Amino acid sequence: MSVSCRHSFSALGQRATPPIIARLMTAALENPRLLSLAAGFTDNATLPVETFGEAVAALTAPGASPELLQYGTNQGRPRLRQLLAERLAREEGHDPSWAEAGRLLVTNGSQQALYLAMQVLCDPGDIVLVDRPSYFVFLEMLRGLGLEARSLPVGADGRLDLAALDAKLTAWQRTGDTARIKAVYLVGYFSNPSGRSLEVDEKRGLARLLSAHRLVVPTIEDAAYRQMAFDGSAGAPSVLALEEWSAFPRLYAGTLTKPFATGLKVGYGYCTDDEWRSRMLHVKGHQDFGSANLNQAVLERVLGDGSFDRHLGRIRPAYARKMQVLHAALVEGGLQRLGWSWAQPQGGLYLWLQAPADADLGLDTAFYRACVGAGVLYVPGELCYGDVPAKNTARLTFGVLAEEDLREAARRFCYVAAGS
Ligand SMILES: Cc1ncc(COP(=O)(O)O)c(C=O)c1O
Repeated sequence: MSVSCRHSFSALGQRATPPIIARLMTAALENPRLLSLAAGFTDNATLPVETFGEAVAALTAPGASPELLQYGTNQGRPRLRQLLAERLAREEGHDPSWAEAGRLLVTNGSQQALYLAMQVLCDPGDIVLVDRPSYFVFLEMLRGLGLEARSLPVGADGRLDLAALDAKLTAWQRTGDTARIKAVYLVGYFSNPSGRSLEVDEKRGLARLLSAHRLVVPTIEDAAYRQMAFDGSAGAPSVLALEEWSAFPRLYAGTLTKPFATGLKVGYGYCTDDEWRSRMLHVKGHQDFGSANLNQAVLERVLGDGSFDRHLGRIRPAYARKMQVLHAALVEGGLQRLGWSWAQPQGGLYLWLQAPADADLGLDTAFYRACVGAGVLYVPGELCYGDVPAKNTARLTFGVLAEEDLREAARRFCYVAAGS
């Protein structure tokens, strides 16, 4: 007798759709002919194979403690958190005791910190205010959790438009929507996808406006690309360090491995609110009761002996150069003459392109298919909006391809743009 299997899925399981990030990564890996300006992989040529090898060799030298092959702790290695706290304090221009190791949790990439934060704060139907444009994996995650993203309005220069936000918040007050706003999410440095950083007056102004509307809600600043400033500067203070934000519960999410070795996935969150942090740790305990101890030990070692910073010193000019190569190839390909525009970022991994207003570069368009046909992949900008997508935008990364391939990918992209 055969017994038929019957399963049904939770609301979360049913909402989950195939992640676009996985699709883009797989497409690039499966078809080597396809040049990917899409998935945010980092540069293979500058991955720190030697530094990593030296760190592992030192950690496993005869007589070394085997503890790094054992489970670690849920919150993360104490010495690593101490080093991170000191580093954060330095970046914010304070003395080393300014940040507390106890406020940090080490996560499986900064992505996990973002997910934990949302899981413990929000229920389906809640609203999260996000940059415009914003990090598409985060936006997808919000949809998966049944949450609604609403964009913080921006002007033509990409800066936050606080007057427009003021009007929106007033309107949402009337409709009762403000009660559903549970969090704010900002990508503060060399944003994925726009490449722009929030300026200090924008950060201050946003805090003042939210406070005026009695919206002192948990705020996340995602600093994934802060270490990837081409000139090595720490940029504007984060929400952790600005007086205007002091009443807000804040989570500063960072990653040690995006600028080092993405595959190691060691991220962290610095959370100013004890209860929020504890709840994230409870859920993390349910998920994995601690991120990979060996990977943390490697990062602890390279942070402590200076090789992490030496690596940053090597990759910053390499990425600055790759950005220039992609930019120059797009100019040479005539994209500006076709009415496209973009700014040259001062850090990070992305160029954010705007095609003429009537262009549609979306995932299911003739333009996208023509690009795949021509052997080049990009991220349609429409994926990067919490609401009201601008269809004429595209994100190109200069992270992964070698310089020759960047030139060829740009040539293919411009060829499609010229023919569309
Ligand atoms: C804005 C942003 N936040 C977070 C992440 C996640 O990084 P990690 O590899 O540390 O999980 C990324 C990865 O690309 C990112 O672009």
